[in-house]
Amino acid sequence: MKFHIFTFGCQMNVCDSDWLCRSLTAMGFEQGAEEEADLFLINTCSVREKPEQKIYSLLGRLTSYWKKNKDVFVGVGGCVAQQVGKKFFQRFPHVRLVFGTDGIAMVPQTILRLISEPELRVSLLDFEDYYPERENNWPEKMPAQAYVNIMQGCDNFCAYCIVPYTRGRQKSRSSKAILDECRTLVNLGVKEITLLGQNVNSYGLDKFGDGVSFAELLYQVAAIDGLKRLRFTTSHPKDIADEVIKAFGELSCLCPQLHLPLQSGSNRILKLMGRKYTREEYLDIVDKLRKVCPDIALTTDLIVGFPGETEEDFEQTLEMIELVRFENSFSFKYSDRPGVRAEKMQPKVLEEVKVRRLAVLQELQEKLTGESYAGRVGKIDEVLVEGLSKKQGKDMKFWRGRDSGGRVVNVPCSSDRDLTGEIVRVKIVEAKKHSLLGEWVDE
Ligand code: SAH
Ligand code: SF4
Ligand code: F3S
Repeated sequence: MKFHIFTFGCQMNVCDSDWLCRSLTAMGFEQGAEEEADLFLINTCSVREKPEQKIYSLLGRLTSYWKKNKDVFVGVGGCVAQQVGKKFFQRFPHVRLVFGTDGIAMVPQTILRLISEPELRVSLLDFEDYYPERENNWPEKMPAQAYVNIMQGCDNFCAYCIVPYTRGRQKSRSSKAILDECRTLVNLGVKEITLLGQNVNSYGLDKFGDGVSFAELLYQVAAIDGLKRLRFTTSHPKDIADEVIKAFGELSCLCPQLHLPLQSGSNRILKLMGRKYTREEYLDIVDKLRKVCPDIALTTDLIVGFPGETEEDFEQTLEMIELVRFENSFSFKYSDRPGVRAEKMQPKVLEEVKVRRLAVLQELQEKLTGESYAGRVGKIDEVLVEGLSKKQGKDMKFWRGRDSGGRVVNVPCSSDRDLTGEIVRVKIVEAKKHSLLGEWVDE
């Protein structure tokens, strides 16, 4: 039996899909292209309306496979599944499984049941009052880069956000389980680990915490012999501890990169969003970070057109982008989500205004990204090679990887050696719009 997984949304979904893929492979299933699959799994995202809509059109498209072969079925997981639940069964005859965050651990054995009982449909949507550890079936060798979940859910209830409803309350994973997993991964060839959570800075502060703070966890993971690079995401500015900031100056494997979502540059909007920090506090964090790690690459998330956002509020967001000089940003038009506080907030900003604000913001960001990338030219940095670049030269191979700050770097190489998973020292020689070109210095 062949399976095919579609993944939408954040790194946590990517991490979950990777786990599903490994588990199903270990059970004897084979991963295949869409056209060859009998089993489809869709890991969904409902953070904005657009990704949610994509799920329905994909499910519509998959109906054609089921019409040809009634053994074909679909499992829908992730945030839309948690939200919509069993209603998927009514709308789509080929959906036989829905699963949420805590249900995913049960998915592999449930699939076996669904295959042996063709009439069965199963929903795994309950939130458990513990962090459900999953059985891991590691392959003999892992790619050089891996993600490790350190917590689930979120307790912040930012006014616009559906995540606390779809992922449930914050549950920290035990530090022992995290460290064991990190050690195993390093033994399997992993060089770079990214610790994942919706708000990693509050790791350990819920009732599931085991007394280890996020800063302590960072130090413990960084001490694993053989680990070359450590990153983490996502950080909430209100919870970033001074010890975490200090770690950027002390831990050599902690990459000089931080994704620190700002959302808005206006204190009035930040308050309405329930973010619990001001622009001044945010700038203070940035100052402290740059003091201990002057080269740190800061990226962020921004929302335009939150209910009530005026032209002046928006100008303040632009001003913050210039003040911080973000390396890059992910920017979104505010999107109403069912049941969140902002859904009832007025006045809503007109779509055409949101579109314009987003374009202005993104133009400013492109300019800053360009300037920042140009500033990298001449620097020596390390690149962890992920694989071959999309574009290849005539008589040179081009390899694609990421520098310590997380920027994409293409590296030409004349030899036939496979550089996948290797860390190479490069000199940055050219800045392109969204990537850098580096020359391998000790080839
Ligand atoms: N836990 C992370 C982000 C999770 S969602 C954090 O707190 O930073 C990723 C991003 O989607 C958010 O940072 C926000 O910028 C955006 N987002 C969330 N809800 C949104 C909505 N209703 N409309 C538009 N963007 C939204
Ligand atoms: Fe959503 Fe806020 Fe939680 Fe991030 S911190 S997941 S934006 S509620
Ligand atoms: Fe989307 Fe859920 Fe992640 S809403 S961003 S998949 S937590």
